[in-house]
Amino acid sequence: MLLTLVYRSHVSEHVQSASLEGLVAQASIKNEISGITGILLFDGTHFFQLLEGPEDAVDALYSTICRDRRHHNVVELMRDYAPSRRFGNVGMELFDLRKHHEDVVLQAVLDKGTSKYRLTYDDRALQFLCTFVQAREKENYLEILPSGSWSFIADEALKPEVEFIFPEMQDYSFAFQPIVDPLSKEIVSYEATLRGPDGGSPMGYFSQLSRTTIYEADLKSKKLAFALANKMGISNKTLCIKLLPMTLVMVPDAVEFLVQEITANGLVPEQIVVAITENGVITREDKFTAAMKQLKASGMRLAIDDFGAGSAGLLLLTQCQPDKIMIDRNIICDVHTSGPKQAVVQAIIRFCSSLEVSVIATGVEKPEEWMWLDAAGICNFQGELFATPRLNGAPVVAWPEVKQEYQLRDQTL
Ligand SMILES: Cc1cc2nc3c(=O)[nH]c(=O)nc-3n(C[C@H](O)[C@H](O)[C@H](O)COP(=O)(O)O)c2cc1C
Repeated sequence: MLLTLVYRSHVSEHVQSASLEGLVAQASIKNEISGITGILLFDGTHFFQLLEGPEDAVDALYSTICRDRRHHNVVELMRDYAPSRRFGNVGMELFDLRKHHEDVVLQAVLDKGTSKYRLTYDDRALQFLCTFVQAREKENYLEILPSGSWSFIADEALKPEVEFIFPEMQDYSFAFQPIVDPLSKEIVSYEATLRGPDGGSPMGYFSQLSRTTIYEADLKSKKLAFALANKMGISNKTLCIKLLPMTLVMVPDAVEFLVQEITANGLVPEQIVVAITENGVITREDKFTAAMKQLKASGMRLAIDDFGAGSAGLLLLTQCQPDKIMIDRNIICDVHTSGPKQAVVQAIIRFCSSLEVSVIATGVEKPEEWMWLDAAGICNFQGELFATPRLNGAPVVAWPEVKQEYQLRDQTL
């Protein structure tokens, strides 16, 4: 199948513009052998390349290109399939945008086109090309430091305490993972996630329960989370607990139960964030809305967890006015290399800013993911990069320190 792949990247400091002619001449020969065609645009700082050809050949070349040290911050913008090539006559051709006016370049590029219909009708690849030539998206070209530019140093002041033991732990336990503001070196919140007694999935426990008792068990289990938080002494931090969306509807007096257990454990409702997962099916919408009102009226706050992965999505956002949104880990994974993921995260940031909803990125594992999200405007993060979840106690947190050789560059980005 004919794959079209479009990416953009930043040229590396040491690369001379003159050397690009040689690069393209070699690329053109190599591409012809593997049946790849396309074009390369350069504006003095950024590359934009369109590659088209057999899927395996384009994928193999793109992996090689991604590893090329002559550029960095490579972001895949488009991966799509087409009936015919857009630039079928050229193995690779370079257009230097600094040498000609944008209209001239655009016309010259389009003159190379070989696909009659695609050049006539709206075509995403060509729209990407026009946007790059007209420099219309430049504010979104976030430049980040290389992955090795930060060290992550364990906070010695946060040595793990002994594990606390409660009778309920025969059936289940809780893993605690902090939500952090890494640059302020601050733990903002702890999230308590239900686990099996040995730290694995709690499914063994839940699978014994019927459809009606599962909601009650979900609710009652939070008593242990509050008791553990009390022993851990989470002080003025918030505690985030996850609930199935229908638990608050199906269990009578669920909010009263939560408030009672919160206060019995020396916490206050304003300190508790109830995270409902967007993946959970919400039926009985009117009852759900009433339960949300009751929850808010008690002082507790509401978060939508796994945002972006489920089916309720934007509709749930309009219905329940959450205080926080936790972006799903699958969207966060490799966000620094994916144009579609970057566009989604930037849209989430924009609408959350309009609605005064705070955004948390979850599942952050790579320094580059964190750097990109931070550059995009997110301050609160959760993930193995900073702290691994710990069973029945608070884990140690690792804070980022920029390495000395990158300190100046960090300030200029
Ligand atoms: C912006 C940019 C675009 C490139 N485009 C191509 C290309 O279209 N075809 C190609 O063979 N190499 C291209 N290269 C060079 C490859 O990264 C790589 O150096 C080249 O394919 C030789 O790889 P090899 O040594 O593994 O054979 C490009 C490099 C850069 C920095």
